[in-house]
Amino acid sequence: MTTPEVFAPAKINLTLHVTGQRADGYHLLDSLVMFADVGDTLRLTPASQLSMSVTGPLSDGVPSDHRNLVWQAAIHARWTGHIDLEKHLPHGAGIGGGSSDAAALLRAANFAGDASALGADVPVCLHGRAARMSGIGEVIRPVDGLPQLHAVLVNPGVHVPTPRVFAALTHKDNPAMSTLPTAQTAGAFVQWLRDQRNDLEAPAVSAQPVIADVLKALTKVACGGVVRMSGSGATCFALFQNKGQAELAAKDLAGVHPDWWVRACALS
Ligand code: C5P
Repeated sequence: MTTPEVFAPAKINLTLHVTGQRADGYHLLDSLVMFADVGDTLRLTPASQLSMSVTGPLSDGVPSDHRNLVWQAAIHARWTGHIDLEKHLPHGAGIGGGSSDAAALLRAANFAGDASALGADVPVCLHGRAARMSGIGEVIRPVDGLPQLHAVLVNPGVHVPTPRVFAALTHKDNPAMSTLPTAQTAGAFVQWLRDQRNDLEAPAVSAQPVIADVLKALTKVACGGVVRMSGSGATCFALFQNKGQAELAAKDLAGVHPDWWVRACALS
């Protein structure tokens, strides 16, 4: 029996506040996460042995064995069969490429245990809906009633290792997010977002200065909309008032930077 396609959406950290560091080195986070309508696709065919193939436009350099987090998720969930992973998201890019793929497998395998052993972003990806993430990523609180957002995602094709970005962070005890507005109109929500941060942006830019170019290029087309990096980078996003504006900006950016990965999407 073949299970139908499973969608693994891009995870976007609209905010990422680093609020402290544990004795084991892991950082305490306070992050608002939403999910995009762009992502990878998995096709899972149960069988007695585990095997994997990777296809799709962003499959270059993606391992199809135990090095892949989906493979590790299969072992974690005691699932066996063939995993066909169709990559549309850049990996190691701050938008949960690997974590969302792993979470998609866990969901398809009806896994009900602790997913945090697979990585700090896997629990929120397993939740799969807008959430406030804290602890080191394992505390997930659903956030309901957020308006749908229109965004453009841009990745300049550089990989920034997450541990290196955290290590370059100069201040680890930063303020948490301010209280989310209760009236979640798009205007109030975006205004609130504007006052929040991604504390990993500065260290990521110092590791890969091209991220500053991405932020600048997004600011130029964003008509005053929020522009920020997601996760530990290098993917950045800009928010737009509607789908048409986002698509137009994506087209402009892709024309000027044909070597960058650029996608218009909706976040929910
Ligand atoms: O859990 P994950 O594999 O995504 O984390 C990669 C690395 O990022 C960790 O080894 C750690 O150096 C850093 N990290 C952190 N604090 C977190 C999450 C990740 O310091 N909350």
